[in-house]
Amino acid sequence: MTQAVILASGLDSRAYRLPWPAGAVVYELDKPDVIAFKTHTLAKLGAAPTVDHRVVAVDLRDDWPTVLRAAGFDAARPTAWCAEGLLGYLPPEAQDRLLDTVTELSAPGSRVATESRPNPRPGEDGKAKEGLQRISERWRAHGFDLDHARLRYFGERNEAAPYLRDRGWVLNELSTRDLLAANGLPPLEGDELRMGDLLYVSGVLDQAGSPS
Ligand SMILES: C[S@@+](CC[C@H](N)C(=O)[O-])C[C@H]1O[C@@H](n2cnc3c(N)ncnc32)[C@H](O)[C@@H]1O
Repeated sequence: MTQAVILASGLDSRAYRLPWPAGAVVYELDKPDVIAFKTHTLAKLGAAPTVDHRVVAVDLRDDWPTVLRAAGFDAARPTAWCAEGLLGYLPPEAQDRLLDTVTELSAPGSRVATESRPNPRPGEDGKAKEGLQRISERWRAHGFDLDHARLRYFGERNEAAPYLRDRGWVLNELSTRDLLAANGLPPLEGDELRMGDLLYVSGVLDQAGSPS
């Protein structure tokens, strides 16, 4: 596969450090200030992409497919999609729209990697907000004043894994808890415990294409 799209790329550095195949194109989408910060910082360090790297500064709640196509994206080619650490920052309807759009833009054989968070049990969101509050306080003590809970959207939403399956994706899932154990890493504790249920999801769009 020679076309990859990293949604909400943040400080992801795969385009700079992986040995990409000849002819590969990697698109990175994130908000303009994040794209500007990373591009400027890596250029200052003398880092150069190892691939045809195209950055797309856009808000993923807006019409990002138009901007992606303008940058050269070709929906007729299979695509490797990556959406890590993104969905909780989108309101529920924007998450659905994003997963629908990813499916619509995917030729059969395309691949996806993302996370699927089980819906909160009663009282769980309150605990999550308290945990984020404690994280914010720790950062504040170091001079970084950000209210982490205000960045996230809480409450019920469609879970990404079943949502994608219904749209023709064949997926594997692995919980954070199992992923840590499989790699010999210590188990989660304290405020991080609830992260154990988060599922890492990867898979392929059925060769027959999306049923919808
Ligand atoms: C937790 S970081 C994850 C970054 C990267 N994917 C990773 O796993 O290291 C979340 C990223 O989502 C981006 N993001 C959040 N909401 C967004 C939106 N509406 N449009 C574009 N990017 C967004 C943020 O700018 C940030 O870079």
